Amino acid sequence: MPLSTLLFTILICIVPLALSAPATSVVENTSTSCFPALYFKTPSNIPSSLNNWWCKPETEYAFVGFSYEVTACQSRAQLNQDFYDIRHRFQSRYIRLYGACDREDFYDDVIEAAWNNTLGVHALVWFGFNLDDVWIGRRDALFKSLHSNPKAPFVTRVVQFGSEPLFDGVLPHDQLAEQVILAKANLSSLHINVTVSELAYGFQERGGAQDVLDAIDSINIHMLPFFSSSASTANNSWPLVLNDLNWFIQHGNGKKMYFDENGWPSVTSPSVQPNSPLAVADVPNEQEYYVVLDQHCEFLKEVIGGGVAWFAHIYSDDMEPGYVSSSPEEHACTMTNNHHAFAVTPLVFQPFDRLAHALVERYA
Ligand SMILES: *[C@@H]1O[C@H](CO)[C@@H](O)[C@H](O)[C@H]1NC(C)=O
Ligand SMILES: *[C@@H]1O[C@H](CO)[C@@H](O)[C@H](O)[C@H]1NC(C)=O
Ligand SMILES: *[C@@H]1O[C@H](CO)[C@@H](O)[C@H](O)[C@H]1NC(C)=O
Ligand SMILES: *[C@@H]1O[C@H](CO)[C@@H](O)[C@H](O)[C@H]1NC(C)=O
Ligand SMILES: *[C@@H]1O[C@H](CO)[C@@H](O)[C@H](O)[C@H]1NC(C)=O
Repeated sequence: MPLSTLLFTILICIVPLALSAPATSVVENTSTSCFPALYFKTPSNIPSSLNNWWCKPETEYAFVGFSYEVTACQSRAQLNQDFYDIRHRFQSRYIRLYGACDREDFYDDVIEAAWNNTLGVHALVWFGFNLDDVWIGRRDALFKSLHSNPKAPFVTRVVQFGSEPLFDGVLPHDQLAEQVILAKANLSSLHINVTVSELAYGFQERGGAQDVLDAIDSINIHMLPFFSSSASTANNSWPLVLNDLNWFIQHGNGKKMYFDENGWPSVTSPSVQPNSPLAVADVPNEQEYYVVLDQHCEFLKEVIGGGVAWFAHIYSDDMEPGYVSSSPEEHACTMTNNHHAFAVTPLVFQPFDRLAHALVERYA
């Protein structure tokens, strides 16, 4: 969205906001002062310290960006192009990596493109679906970049172990907790946080895995209500979302929460099947899911830990013609944040073909 359009949208939105809620219309404009706020200007030199670098967790809620799949091993030029689009057209502040690229120094390209486009990164140690040890080499390669690239701690907000290592049964929960603790120790000099990217059900089926919940710095939740045995339309999904969220509120010790792999599929495939005969997968429902989240934006903003921030699943360059945003909207809740806007209207995300693993078994 061009800046002029954005400012215009801000103007038409602030008026009703000011009329209906004068208390929230006076908001400190912090959006120029911290990474990766919308108007932040990345300095030409790398700062000498991380003091006051990151935006505070409580200023980060509602839509923050996309999951971005790296299995294609995008070139640095492609990463720059996509990150530019993610930042400027969709007003994102973060990308959450998804999948894996094992090309040497790939993460350095991610770092450079993220820095260049003022995007924070939720990096990922990808376990894949084969229940093997391939993640160990991926972790080592990522940690090498994190330690050697001086920009790394300025763009990498958190390292995730994922996706769904508990649900997939890659590691017993006590070993996963130990890996999180080791990773935190390894990255502590860089002040980079560590988490696990997981479904509520992944924890629940391992007796709650409280050791993992205690070890992680933030809670990076997979919120995929389409797969619930009670699913119908996205419009009816809020009780399902709330049910999972409440579980994390009760067991998460007040940590910052993200809906990290988050969405509603527009199509099914042989490996992506609902667990409810009433579940509808189509583009209107895919879109409606994000409308539902935005309708509960004020609630999500107040959730313990500084409010829930959410990623949309998933940014796709190969489906570019399908997800062009033609009528961007601003929302009162996101506006008081001053950080971003999100186009809810016709976005068509990539079908969940990359979730082609055991999600169908979630409630089986
Ligand atoms: C916040 O600051 C930016 C950059 O100066 C400006 O463009 C934007 O309009 C401000 N937002 C508000 C709501 O004042
Ligand atoms: C930064 O991103 C822009 C937009 O994609 C690109 O044209 C430019 O080459 C990039 N610069 C660097 C140093 O990567
Ligand atoms: C961090 O882990 C990497 C391997 O993943 C290792 O090579 C490095 O020595 C570790 N550094 C510290 C400070 O523990
Ligand atoms: C890292 O996690 C801690 C909680 O363990 C949190 O207080 C802190 O804000 C996080 N840092 C960043 C940069 O997100
Ligand atoms: C979603 O439900 C609300 C009422 O709960 C209704 O007003 C709205 O029209 C529904 N949207 C769709 C797309 O069905």
